[in-house]
Amino acid sequence: MKFNERVFSGMQPTGSLHLGNYLGAMLKWIDLQKTHECIYCVVDLHAITVWQDPEELRRSIRQVTAAYMAAGLDPEKSILFNQSQVSAHAELAWIFNCVARLGWLNRMTQFKEKAGKDRENASVGLYAYPNLMAADILAYRATHVPVGDDQKQHLELARDIAQKFNNDFGDSIRAAGYEDGEFFPQPEPVIVGPATRVMSLRDGTRKMSKSEPSDLSRINLTDDNDAISKKIRKAKTDPEALPGETDGLAGRPEADNLVGIYAALAGIAKSEVLSEFGGRQFSDFKPALADLCVAQLGPIADEARRLMDDPAEIDRVLVDGADRARRIADPILGEAKEIIGFIRSSS
Ligand code: TYM
Repeated sequence: MKFNERVFSGMQPTGSLHLGNYLGAMLKWIDLQKTHECIYCVVDLHAITVWQDPEELRRSIRQVTAAYMAAGLDPEKSILFNQSQVSAHAELAWIFNCVARLGWLNRMTQFKEKAGKDRENASVGLYAYPNLMAADILAYRATHVPVGDDQKQHLELARDIAQKFNNDFGDSIRAAGYEDGEFFPQPEPVIVGPATRVMSLRDGTRKMSKSEPSDLSRINLTDDNDAISKKIRKAKTDPEALPGETDGLAGRPEADNLVGIYAALAGIAKSEVLSEFGGRQFSDFKPALADLCVAQLGPIADEARRLMDDPAEIDRVLVDGADRARRIADPILGEAKEIIGFIRSSS
């Protein structure tokens, strides 16, 4: 089957979003909105793979939705919703639990990192997390998935699941009228730009993440201008001046990271940043980077705060988005059930 291009992606509502989420994923989401049908999800079912305080979770779902809109995702153009409102995700995830192999999940590095040493005590949901992610994407037959570099392995698994489903049920899929036996597409990762892996401001070898204890390691989308400037001023660097060419960034992870952040915020290549700042010290570069960050993130934080003052309006956006999402996902899930051999109600 020839699949129409459709974009799907999501973020977990666990604490506030940070610069890594913004540069690694959200900037591309905003761009794709201009050319594609886009579905952007707040993945609350994924969030509960580790325990969440119910009040905090509710607040985080609204806060991530507010950040989506404040950053420029338009709920009229794209579908914005929270995952738990559309039951197709959980149902298809169960089907995929029966398609994916234990060996595949055993290879997932993110599970190993998140479960740590105490694997026996991790939730079954954390283990099966990538199957739910495959369901998120394939419930819409999405063809393009804009994400940061850390999601690459999960997307390869989603492709394997799609292929195995198509193989396992090939005859039934053809009998349902899909002559080439392709019911699910192979979703393509969209991992592009100078900041697909934004690193901690305190250690250029570690990913910027919500779970890092030091708040100085990341710029949150809720930080005010002073906090942003302070964090950039305190960011770890080395004593050398910036190089004139990108080759000179090799072996200098902190310099590479800050140049990548500048490039992504300015919408230019790292080489262009270096042609401007090559030979200059961090004492010159950091204030320019701080100004750029404040100019871009400041208005987003302000708008998100304004939106958070009206939680009923955010909830309305989510309910409307979920209605539209269901209209796409439910028929696809219904067909998948029929292909598997389930008996369906006629309604
Ligand atoms: P999550 O919530 O951890 O992150 C959301 C998005 O931000 C990207 N990202 C980064 N990019 C660059 N540098 C960083 N330091 C950085 N940290 C995070 C992530 O790559 C991601 O794109 N499993 C996903 C959520 C998910 C999903 C999906 C994504 C659930 N279902 C279906 C796409 C399609 C996750 O935990 O992202």
